[in-house]
Amino acid sequence: MSSSRKALAVVLAAGEGTRMKSDTPKVLHQVAGQSMLAHVLAAVAAAGVENVAVVVGPGREDVAAEALRRAPHAQTFVQAERLGTAHAVLAAREALIAGCDDLLVLFADTPLVTSRAVRGLREALAAGAGVAALGFLAADPFGYGRLLQDEGGRLLAIREEKDASEAERSIRLCNAGLMAMDGAAALGWLGRIGAANAKGEYYLTDIVEIARREGREAGVVLADETEVLGVNDRIQLAQAEAVAQSRLRRAAMAAGVTMIAPETVFLSSDTVLGRDVTIEPHVVIGPGVSIADKAVIHAFSHLEGATVGQGATIGPFARLRPGAALAERAKVGNFVEIKNANVAKGAKVNHLTYIGDADIGANANIGAGTITCNYDGFFKYRTEIGENAFIGSNSALVAPVKIGAGAYVGSGSVVTKNVGADALAVARGRQVEKAGWGAAFRAAQAERKKGGK
Ligand code: UD1
Ligand code: MG
Repeated sequence: MSSSRKALAVVLAAGEGTRMKSDTPKVLHQVAGQSMLAHVLAAVAAAGVENVAVVVGPGREDVAAEALRRAPHAQTFVQAERLGTAHAVLAAREALIAGCDDLLVLFADTPLVTSRAVRGLREALAAGAGVAALGFLAADPFGYGRLLQDEGGRLLAIREEKDASEAERSIRLCNAGLMAMDGAAALGWLGRIGAANAKGEYYLTDIVEIARREGREAGVVLADETEVLGVNDRIQLAQAEAVAQSRLRRAAMAAGVTMIAPETVFLSSDTVLGRDVTIEPHVVIGPGVSIADKAVIHAFSHLEGATVGQGATIGPFARLRPGAALAERAKVGNFVEIKNANVAKGAKVNHLTYIGDADIGANANIGAGTITCNYDGFFKYRTEIGENAFIGSNSALVAPVKIGAGAYVGSGSVVTKNVGADALAVARGRQVEKAGWGAAFRAAQAERKKGGK
């Protein structure tokens, strides 16, 4: 593609998002585990756009910070007053002055947009168009700008709902909002946009007629309606989530992941899944998870910020929290929680256990009900368990503590001191047995009751 053409994407994120009814700015609401703004920036990056400007509303340092986190080379600009989409683009004037061949404008509240759409618009510019708009056939066009075309499919103008005639309103081909324009001419065209319309706003969409008056052509690139879904409220946020999840599941299955009931599995945009991974029903995978080849995630497990090694098995009903790192063939069974801990090759943590801030050596066996006591209310401490160690059921390991390689901990122990390699540590009450005690006790109590005492 036109890699020799220099591109600048201006991402508009200055909207108020009132209908979200939220303290969080709209574009920071998440879809598939990352902000809507991050999705748009990812599509821009995947389309090979090297320069990015993000326009934020006044006082929205949080939005600017997210932009820089996701696109460290991006420039951020503040649109002091919300006077329309053309006005918002001009807030990034400084970036526009630096010059580009392709100027792209995207809305940060359209998280499902793909790099394919961005590339399509750039191709239209490379083929000579002055302006290109992303269009879609709306099931219900109400509220959108309508794309007015001539018989040859060339774009004549974009008419906003409020300014459209009856006949124009019957057009179903709508403006998705994503536009591309000749970077060399754009600044001049933008400067000529006025606000003489029903809303009294500076409409970016007016650029089509302005470019045409200068003899430049405008074109339409078609997209699917799901791809251009704009999120204005929580209902649309959930719709966007559903589309994003369905895309992620399909991509995972296409790459060799088995899902028995894909519609019950929730992934994140950054989930990394190896070949021949199996994910059973009702699994939730949050951000920062990577699962290697042949691993099996059994039903009802929840993973976040965790890495799972090749051939490892997780769950059913397991929880891997951030920093859980499981090596090859590690086994984590039911009702086990692992946080900030390394579980080495072949180690087993099979039942009812909490492992936090720990290192578990290769092939160690952690018995049912083991708890690492890692927190004293102020600080966290580590537990180290050596290779081939065996921790008996229902033991509490009070950190900081080390269990040597090949050591045994007797069931029900509360371990507060280090245990040497190959040793046995037992830290529980010693068992005593009193012969006949039960019978004698019953007889004595029965006698007492008879006497009314
Ligand atoms: C816009 C398009 C319309 C299109 C529709 C698609 C214009 C004039 N109209 O209309 O053709 O069908 O999107 O959803 O462009 N924004 C700012 N600063 C502003 C104004 C807007 O940053 O001063 C941002 C908003 O946060 C939003 C985007 O630009 O992300 C679009 O603004 P919005 O007011 O939603 O435009 P629409 O009326 O939906
Ligand atoms: Mg809108």
